[in-house]
Amino acid sequence: MQKTYERLLTGNKEWAKNKLKDNPDFFKTLKLGQNPEYLWIGCSDSRVPANEITNTMSGEIFVHRNIANMVVHTDMNLLSVLYYAVEVLQVKHVIVCGHYGCGGVLAAMENKDHGFVNNWLRNIKEVYNKHHKELEAMTDFTARSNRMVELNVIEQVHNLAKTRIVQKQWKSRQLEIHGWVYGVDDGMIKDLNVSYSDIQNVEPIFRYDI
Ligand code: CO
Repeated sequence: MQKTYERLLTGNKEWAKNKLKDNPDFFKTLKLGQNPEYLWIGCSDSRVPANEITNTMSGEIFVHRNIANMVVHTDMNLLSVLYYAVEVLQVKHVIVCGHYGCGGVLAAMENKDHGFVNNWLRNIKEVYNKHHKELEAMTDFTARSNRMVELNVIEQVHNLAKTRIVQKQWKSRQLEIHGWVYGVDDGMIKDLNVSYSDIQNVEPIFRYDI
């Protein structure tokens, strides 16, 4: 009998065969290198696969995912991905994409002890605390948690704009940052219209003289 994980390996064979059927040069082209136009910072949630929900192909999106799509300024993993994407790959757009019903955001909105994960959720709690008046004015829990998901994305977009990595790019070229939210229940992405394309909207104390 086939073990459950083996389904992935047989699935891979099937996928590779179909790709070659559609385009005999598919892997030959990918082998030459990658030239993605986008960096995607999304949630690790299995229901939000970057390429699938944007109908894009291998090679089109450079991807970083973590719990609740966070941009934490001490996270070496995120910073390394961001640096490589903008400095070397020269992506033109950085997209933070959250999703409604995000387990990480929901967990940060309550007081339950999540052990080690508390350290990560702490960053999301800071977002809640910053906006607690607006959030607590909403009596409907779903409305409040949906708004919290949006505010969390918006704050991560701000966090990207505060990095030297992004600000250095703005000195010499166009680089846009966007904040989106995906609806797991309808498959639709909503643009929160919080984009940055220069340092003008960055709060003065976070601007670097590069
Ligand atoms: Co999530």
